Amino acid sequence: MDLAATVAVAFWAMLPAYVPNNVAVLAGGGRPIDGGRTWNGRRVLGDGKTWRGTFVGTLAGVALTAALNTLEPAASEALGVPLPAFPLAATVALPAGAMLGDILASFLKRRTGRERGAAFPLVDQLDFVVVALVLTALAAPAWFGDTFTLEVVVAVLVLTPVLHVGTNVGAYQLGLKDEPW
Ligand code: CTP
Ligand code: MG
Repeated sequence: MDLAATVAVAFWAMLPAYVPNNVAVLAGGGRPIDGGRTWNGRRVLGDGKTWRGTFVGTLAGVALTAALNTLEPAASEALGVPLPAFPLAATVALPAGAMLGDILASFLKRRTGRERGAAFPLVDQLDFVVVALVLTALAAPAWFGDTFTLEVVVAVLVLTPVLHVGTNVGAYQLGLKDEPW
């Protein structure tokens, strides 16, 4: 595959992991997952991780994979690149893994003394990718191996921080997010 095709596959295959965190920003609020509980004097996760944000974000990712599966033949044809369709296990693992990665990062942030909203460079940009990929590798190993070749994984690791910084600065400027990260 040439570079453009590799980037196209990386972006398409990761879209179900990119969308949930952004939807959570729009849908978040209400009861925090940790219920306000603390551990060693600090919140377990904090008010930034809510049931509603997590649930709606995951559902949005699942719905998106259904849409992408419908669009896949036409999109592959139009781009001249064989884009992957998502098997059921990946449909759930990519969005759920993305949300879980973000939650684990909040856990780590609180344990390392970072307040809600504090930046944690690299962890903020890659937490959701790493957990989404690991969960998908476990849930749909054959599909994962076919889709996430070494070059696609490298493209994901380079592309994601760029997209993450771009979308978060955009959401901040639109007033949707309190911090630009
Ligand atoms: N959000 C949510 N549930 C999630 C993830 C995000 O409700 N599982 C919403 C919250 O309203 C959160 C906003 O999206 O404040 C921004 O998400 P994020 O930057 O991940 O959270 P922070 O508020 O920065 O908290 P943390 O420091 O714990 O990451
Ligand atoms: Mg944040």
